[in-house]
Amino acid sequence: MEDEEGPECGKPDFVLLDQVTMEDFMRNLQLRFEKGRIYTYIGEVLVSVNPYQELPLYGPEAIARYQGRELYERPPHLYAVANATYKAMKHRSRDTCIVISGESGAGKTEASKHIMQYIAAVTNPSQRAEVERVKDVLLKSTCVLEAFGNARTNRNHNSSRFGKYMDINFDFKGDPIGGHIHSYLLEKSRVLKQHVGERNFHAFYQLLRGSEDKQLHKLHLERNPAVYNFTRQGAGLNMIVHSALDSDEQSHQAVTEAMRVIGFSPEEVESVHRILAAILHLGNIEFVETEEGGLQKEGLAVAEETLVDHVAELTATPRDLVLRSLLARTVASGGRELIEKGHTAAEASYARDACAKAVYQRLFEWVVNRINSVMEPRGRDPRRDGKDTVIGVLDIYGFEVFPVNSFEQFCINYCNEKLQQLFIRLILKQEQEEYEREGIAWQSVEYFNNATIVDLVERPHRGILAVLDEACSSAGTITDRIFLQTLDTHHRHHLHYTSRQLCPTDKTMEFGRDFRIKHYAGDVTYSVEGFIDKNRDFLFQDFKRLLYNSTDPTLRAMWPDGQQDITEVTKRPLTAGTLFKNSMVALVENLASKEPFYVRCIKPNEDKVAGKLDENHCRHQVAYLGLLENVRVRRAGFASRQPYSRFLLRYKMTCEYTWPNHLLGSDKAAVSALLEQHGLQGDVAFGHSKLFIRSPRTLVTLEQSRARLIPIIVLLLQKAWRGTLARWRCRRLRAIYTIMRWFRRHKVRAHLAELQRRFQAARQPPLYGRDLVWPLPPAVLQPFQDTCQALFCRWRARQLVKNIPPSDMAQIKAKVAAMGALQGLRQDWGCRRAWARDYLSSATDNPTASSLFAQRLKTLRDKDGFGAVLFSSHIRKVNRFYKIRNRALLLTDRHLYKLDPDRQYRVMRAVPLEAVTGLSVTSGGDQLVVLHARGGSWPCSYPATGEGLGFIFRQGWGVRLETEQPRELSRDVLLNRRRGPGLMLSQPRAVPVPVPAGSGCLRRWDRPLEPGNCGTGPAARTPSLLEQGLCSWKDPQGSLGRHLQPPG
Ligand SMILES: Nc1ncnc2c1ncn2[C@@H]1O[C@H](COP(=O)(O)OP(=O)(O)OP(=O)(O)O)[C@@H](O)[C@H]1O
Ligand SMILES: [Mg+2]
Repeated sequence: MEDEEGPECGKPDFVLLDQVTMEDFMRNLQLRFEKGRIYTYIGEVLVSVNPYQELPLYGPEAIARYQGRELYERPPHLYAVANATYKAMKHRSRDTCIVISGESGAGKTEASKHIMQYIAAVTNPSQRAEVERVKDVLLKSTCVLEAFGNARTNRNHNSSRFGKYMDINFDFKGDPIGGHIHSYLLEKSRVLKQHVGERNFHAFYQLLRGSEDKQLHKLHLERNPAVYNFTRQGAGLNMIVHSALDSDEQSHQAVTEAMRVIGFSPEEVESVHRILAAILHLGNIEFVETEEGGLQKEGLAVAEETLVDHVAELTATPRDLVLRSLLARTVASGGRELIEKGHTAAEASYARDACAKAVYQRLFEWVVNRINSVMEPRGRDPRRDGKDTVIGVLDIYGFEVFPVNSFEQFCINYCNEKLQQLFIRLILKQEQEEYEREGIAWQSVEYFNNATIVDLVERPHRGILAVLDEACSSAGTITDRIFLQTLDTHHRHHLHYTSRQLCPTDKTMEFGRDFRIKHYAGDVTYSVEGFIDKNRDFLFQDFKRLLYNSTDPTLRAMWPDGQQDITEVTKRPLTAGTLFKNSMVALVENLASKEPFYVRCIKPNEDKVAGKLDENHCRHQVAYLGLLENVRVRRAGFASRQPYSRFLLRYKMTCEYTWPNHLLGSDKAAVSALLEQHGLQGDVAFGHSKLFIRSPRTLVTLEQSRARLIPIIVLLLQKAWRGTLARWRCRRLRAIYTIMRWFRRHKVRAHLAELQRRFQAARQPPLYGRDLVWPLPPAVLQPFQDTCQALFCRWRARQLVKNIPPSDMAQIKAKVAAMGALQGLRQDWGCRRAWARDYLSSATDNPTASSLFAQRLKTLRDKDGFGAVLFSSHIRKVNRFYKIRNRALLLTDRHLYKLDPDRQYRVMRAVPLEAVTGLSVTSGGDQLVVLHARGGSWPCSYPATGEGLGFIFRQGWGVRLETEQPRELSRDVLLNRRRGPGLMLSQPRAVPVPVPAGSGCLRRWDRPLEPGNCGTGPAARTPSLLEQGLCSWKDPQGSLGRHLQPPG
């Protein structure tokens, strides 16, 4: 703070004054004021002097400088107090309040606006929509309330003519979630009459000057306020003119917009305008007494009846009822009989005025309630959302002394006495009493306790308000004068009460009219005229009924008591004075239950000019606000006090002896140890149950060291909490796994039992369990089941194979080999036939030429020395010119021969088996096979493809896929122009590479090769001779016919 506030700016805290005298106090105040330092502390109390000029002290940048800081870190400011209040509310969950006091024009309302702006600026960082809405309503409500509750007075151009206490509710995050406004004692007599130089409430001028012509016409109004009795006095005056924006015209727009934002419906705003217009018309109604003559009876009439029409139209009530309510009243006589009693002119004027005042008051109350209904915290459940905390802001009228003071000033000054009482109770008396109670050495400070004045006003039976109430309730004509006499009798010895009767020499008071109270803030002379009337606050039931029966729902809602029947005997309503007293008692109780922060406003001069500090005027205010006593108490006292347990709770983490819990004899000893560790024991005093800390700096030091440790503690707590969560989770998981384990075990057992049951009969020939269905295993048993199935297959195969005669084994093995290569790649490869192998030698299969073939075979065996004939058959061979020829194929264990059947099986070509490099087969019924060998390929077809291949494979050749990319076997491949995909034969004794089931390029040949479906290339369009030849080949010699039968 010192950095920004040099010695030339005076002391930022009056507690730091060298001597506490009025002179020193005023000098410091003056010095600071001249340097533009309008704020100064007395401890935590902020003294604010109205600068009457815009100073560069406010706005977002200033707010940022104060946000989250301690009170003493920055120069004194409203923002610092707002921040301290907010922090107390947020961090300690305390309800807090800011009491702003000072005389009219001292800057209370402006201060409350700055506080609201600060709170709005620092809250809701996450931009929650509901919170933004509440903030909007909070900020905009000020503008609306000022329009209806503020007026220009001689002391303040924008004087609040009502007391305002606003509660702002916060959730646990510290964001505003709602609010409530209490209004106190609107000065409604202002509607009728204003002092010279003063105006009626702003709302009237704003309506007249700001409405469009069309709207004015609808309301039957003229723009000139001088036309209306209620606004004539202030017609030549403007609202305070800060800037062009503050004109009545523009304020009207701003207020209408604010009402819209708050949530007033357009109909409601219109109703409000109509009610204001009706009040203005009502004010212009004059009464004339009519004499009996002709048709006319003696009585009273309205001078200008169109005004009655306007009032009736604007209030949506029947015209004749309006007229009747103005001219007469209904009274219930003895029984239930109703009598209409005509008014005199004076009575009618009184009734009219009472009606105008009451309508305005109800309108104001309705506006406040409407705003409250919008701000009410919604959907809050304390069990779910936690308790709301509250910041209250009290901006209530300051102490008032006018040349003539009436009932309103009496109430206002009583209110200030009550608030001063609270201040004394909380700041002065309570403090001193506490030091005594706690046994702290202390020099008592003298201060004036105004309890006796409060007692003078509110004491039961004898207090001024009680006497006034009694006067109001008495039958007959108790005049104000008799009321004064009663007061004189009751209070003739009271030190703070006097009157001309009691002090005849004092000519400043009138006999039979004035009494004086020596308020804590000064002497005020009150004129009793109108006291009884204002206290009684009477309005004929006729008006209430009339307005309740309005067809305008807004107006009707303002008059619920108009519902009562006139004959109903109801309790006498509470008087205005008693109502006000009760509301003050409730207010003070409410404030006392909260942690208070004070802003004491000082008005520097009566002329409302900048840069002028009228010493006498200020001295008076400093005196009656009790600021000097405040400084003395503060200087002698301590900045903070806390019960030891609470102190420990907050700061125990800063000391090794107290964290996490101390083992010392008492909390007091623990606190002492903590302070010693910090070296702060010199700045504190130890009470019986509380610790008293003298300077705020000590608190700041402790707070700072706490703030450094909090993140570590948070981490610790998070760690512990996460650990707990993890343990909970682990326990749950363990339980889950146990359940799962047992469930799996059950499933496995059930499955095994089922397997056992199903496979009991598996040994029975001839099927050996072939038709048994394997039950679906649980996932965990799938590998086991796969193994079992494989074992079972092998076992079954063994059972089947062991019955096969050895002579058939070669054939079976060949079939197995062929199946390994062709399964899935070829539709039919002859598995179900008996394989005779050497078809050409068979007299059955080759009846005409078997002997020729036998001779050839003998010759070849002699020549090539092969061991056995593996396979022989007639084939059809295709050459590269697509010519198809009948040939014979002979496969021995050494060679593959191509023979010419037409020329005694002459060898056309002999290929050693080692030279055979691959086979391409189709998957269709055409039985095409291309034998690839080094030195050329043989595209050929024969019915027993599978058989031939089977025997080749049986020779120990492995098979592997040549390519993984399936491609159709094209003509090019057939003609050996290009090696197509196919089966490669690996070298004998090489490790066989199994063809993956279901894959392989030849799977694509799923249709028989027929014209147009022979692959890609030109042949696909024009069936070639080759294709035609292949497709028409039907085993012309029928040599393989019998092999096509399935075996046995
Ligand atoms: N901080 C400030 N900066 C600039 N001008 C200010 C400040 N405070 C008050 N004023 C001026 O003083 C005028 C009166 O202030 P304000 O209305 O707050 O007084 P008040 O204490 O609420 O009076 P009342 O009791 O009559 O309502 C304001 O209209 C404004 O012109
Ligand atoms: Mg004000």
